[in-house]
Amino acid sequence: MKTIIEPFRIKVVEPIRMTTPEERASLLAEAGYNVFLLRSEDVLLDLLTDSGTSAMSAEQWAGIMRGDESYAGSPSYYRFEEAVKEVFGFEQVIPTHQGRAAERILFETLCGPGDLVPSNTHFDTTRANVEAVGAQAVDLLVPEGLLPAEPHPFKGNLDVDRLRELLEEEGVDRVPLVMLTLTNNSGGGQPVSMANIREVSQLCRSHGIPLYMDACRFAENSYLIRLREEGYSDRPVAEIAREIFSYADGCTMSAKKDGLANIGGFVATNDAELARKQRNILILTEGFPTYGGLAGRDLEAIAIGLREVLDEDYLEYRLASVRYLGERIAAGGVPIVQPPGGHAVYIDAAAFLPHIPPLELPGQTVVTELYIEGGIRGVEVGTVMFGRRDPKTGEERPAPMELVRLALPRRVYTQSHVDFMVEAILDFADRKESVGGDRFTYQEEVLRHFTARFEPLD
Ligand code: F0G
Repeated sequence: MKTIIEPFRIKVVEPIRMTTPEERASLLAEAGYNVFLLRSEDVLLDLLTDSGTSAMSAEQWAGIMRGDESYAGSPSYYRFEEAVKEVFGFEQVIPTHQGRAAERILFETLCGPGDLVPSNTHFDTTRANVEAVGAQAVDLLVPEGLLPAEPHPFKGNLDVDRLRELLEEEGVDRVPLVMLTLTNNSGGGQPVSMANIREVSQLCRSHGIPLYMDACRFAENSYLIRLREEGYSDRPVAEIAREIFSYADGCTMSAKKDGLANIGGFVATNDAELARKQRNILILTEGFPTYGGLAGRDLEAIAIGLREVLDEDYLEYRLASVRYLGERIAAGGVPIVQPPGGHAVYIDAAAFLPHIPPLELPGQTVVTELYIEGGIRGVEVGTVMFGRRDPKTGEERPAPMELVRLALPRRVYTQSHVDFMVEAILDFADRKESVGGDRFTYQEEVLRHFTARFEPLD
């Protein structure tokens, strides 16, 4: 059979409230044209994020009932710890309420002012946590990672030559760790190859620098290695994942992604002394080491999710559904980051709406038009999110790319939902010349995309 089906049946359903384009246009105007300010009941297909939005399995719900809420030494913690050790192979496992809490603990214990933390690309919360301890986050992505239309199997790779140069020029002592984000969310959900991971690891080990993974989407990255990298097509995905982490000294994880859970995360390491320091911070801000920032029931859901996410039928369906959405809209003439990544399709709004200059926010226009057209909520990853405004002159600097991310929640939407997305996007493409850009009417200095308000320019 050529058709890949969703490898699950649906046992519980959540109704979607149908709305018309007219209703949506008025709801959007009320929300100041910012889709973050919409009520989620007013969204038909919510592609804002794949984080915390996964559908849990019957086994995970059963685990929720089994969750033991003892303050210390809960069996739920030990099941969680065993799952993390089995999947990732690290000795020390510290639960946190989500990924950014793990990041904060990692950087607080490893870095200080003046340090440099290289990565393929830091996710926003990772960058913010590096900067919060006075260190500097440095992105060293391979050049093809910044060319949306250029198909390349591993556009998430770190540029090893630039890392070598940085170590020579700045000195090894300034670099307390190197990170790799798997997959590279900010750069289109693109994977990192095993060859690149191995090379980065060898370079780090030759200088005694620890390598940490941002493991949020480790299973998707592992499966993309199996699909795209020579020598891996017959290897079980769980084995590929273990190989990845064998090259690292630890990881941070948001279980809201490839943990298939609605909340949770952890930091893991092989360094017992570091873990001791980390547990002290954990107690101060998250909780006792056997629950971190989580309820026992959450630990159970994650323990089960981390094993389920490596199921190969699931991963085949997962990657096929992202590819299906990407290939169908690309065939209809919509420019996307090629090839489609692990968790999302990224529309290249600058190429899609070339009549709208970056400072008139083409990505914001795509986001609002897709909501009106099909009730689809995506997210702008361009000048609204990453552009910078001079606080004195008010002058705007555009972001390097104008992307719109359509993130697919895990196990939530069926193929007919995806067909509906394709139809809505292509219907908008037919009338795209008639739309103009947008402008800010209100913005905050920090993380402005969450609260900004806009006005269409036409
Ligand atoms: N690292 C990456 C690569 C992420 O994508 C995220 C979250 C985090 C770390 C932080 O994890 O949210 O549990 O604190 N990404 C979400 C997204 C918010 O929509 O891509 P968290």
